[in-house]
Amino acid sequence: MESVQAIKQRFGIIGDDPKLNRAVEKAIQVAPTDISVLVTGESGVGKESIPKIIHALSHRKHGKYIAVNCGAIPEGTIDSELFGHEKGAFTGATQTRSGYFEVADGGTIFLDEVGELPLPTQVRLLRVLENGEFIKVGSSKVQKTDVRIVAATNINMFENIKKDKFREDLYYRLSTVEIALPPLRERKGDIHLLFRKFASDFGLKYKMPTIKLDDDAVDLLLKYRWGGNIRQLRNIAEQVSVLEQKRNISAEELRQYLPDIGSNLPAVISDKKKEGDFSNEREILYKVLFDMKSDLNDLKKLTLKLMQEGDSQQVQDENEGLIEKIYGSSGDDIDEADIDEDELNVLQIPQQNSSSPSQEEKDKYYFAEEIEEEETLSLQDKELELIKKSLERHSGKRKAAAEELGISERTLYRKIKQYNL
Ligand SMILES: Nc1ncnc2c1ncn2[C@@H]1O[C@H](COP(=O)(O)OP(=O)(O)O)[C@@H](O)[C@H]1O
Ligand SMILES: [Mg+2]
Repeated sequence: MESVQAIKQRFGIIGDDPKLNRAVEKAIQVAPTDISVLVTGESGVGKESIPKIIHALSHRKHGKYIAVNCGAIPEGTIDSELFGHEKGAFTGATQTRSGYFEVADGGTIFLDEVGELPLPTQVRLLRVLENGEFIKVGSSKVQKTDVRIVAATNINMFENIKKDKFREDLYYRLSTVEIALPPLRERKGDIHLLFRKFASDFGLKYKMPTIKLDDDAVDLLLKYRWGGNIRQLRNIAEQVSVLEQKRNISAEELRQYLPDIGSNLPAVISDKKKEGDFSNEREILYKVLFDMKSDLNDLKKLTLKLMQEGDSQQVQDENEGLIEKIYGSSGDDIDEADIDEDELNVLQIPQQNSSSPSQEEKDKYYFAEEIEEEETLSLQDKELELIKKSLERHSGKRKAAAEELGISERTLYRKIKQYNL
């Protein structure tokens, strides 16, 4: 039996992570049997090598190997593609056609994205798996075939089973042996290795010296989340190789090529913990908190902007107090430059002077106003109560009360007038 290392070399698989090695080893072990294999793992982890290894090391190696992307074939034609059709089975079926299961007789079929198969096709597939029988579309003749199936999925099959989108019996039939490929972020030891390999490949391809990462850039590479796994790493190695003038790449330079680096904060945090202490739930929690904080900041900016848009002096005066409460200052020092106009537009509050708003717009406007009023009321109640209490505590001394409330004396004076205190 060929060794794991030799197989990896033969199939161009880079990396020495134990989980990767285990996956390759499993592929080698099941290859000589006819057992169905389900390859699982996120998109871009390298699932496509596994069925190739299995086919090449099996007694079917001289037979056909057909890879089918189940997610890419339209529902209307997938049965015909897989199982063939009779002449006249449907409009346009001018000739009898053989499907992949007939063509690959004696070989291997790789069903990629198998979770995307429509239910009727799943029924046909189950039958082939159970007794090697299938029927062409539009035919009544049962045919036999001898095909080894390797399937792959990047989605949670149990979710699909629960939602009645995937047959449970088929799932168990397909996954007699499961080979799971780890995401890149769980193969930290391989990340730089893979990057160097890709950088060297692209250096040759584009006839440029190979790029090299500084230490801090390597750190960044290891901390990044790699949602698109090896496919993404390769793309980035290519972009940097082509677009950077310099051949020594710093973290700052690399950062520009890593999308949504903000959402990678959780990975950075969990990275500081001891290995093995990796807690998925905590990571999700960090992410939620992080997103919430950024939402809140956006909301603050938006509120501020809307408040400052009130054009009458009276509205501005009233808002000043609220702005002070939220920001602890008049809000003038808050940078408005980065407020996204598009974000403001989604609110679609009609301008007061806009010409004849539609009923829909009116509804939106009034509905929003209703809610606003309710909230303003309860806010006002609270504010009133706070001011009263503070004034009591300081025996009516406005300066001390204003200080405690964190607002200016002028604002407090206005409030006292407003609430008739
Ligand atoms: N261990 C690896 N070494 C080198 N290249 C790899 C490795 N794993 C994946 N790749 C490359 O990454 C890309 C994505 O792999 P692929 O098998 O298509 O992923 P998946 O099918 O899991 O989405 C391919 O270009 C593949 O050659
Ligand atoms: Mg794939």
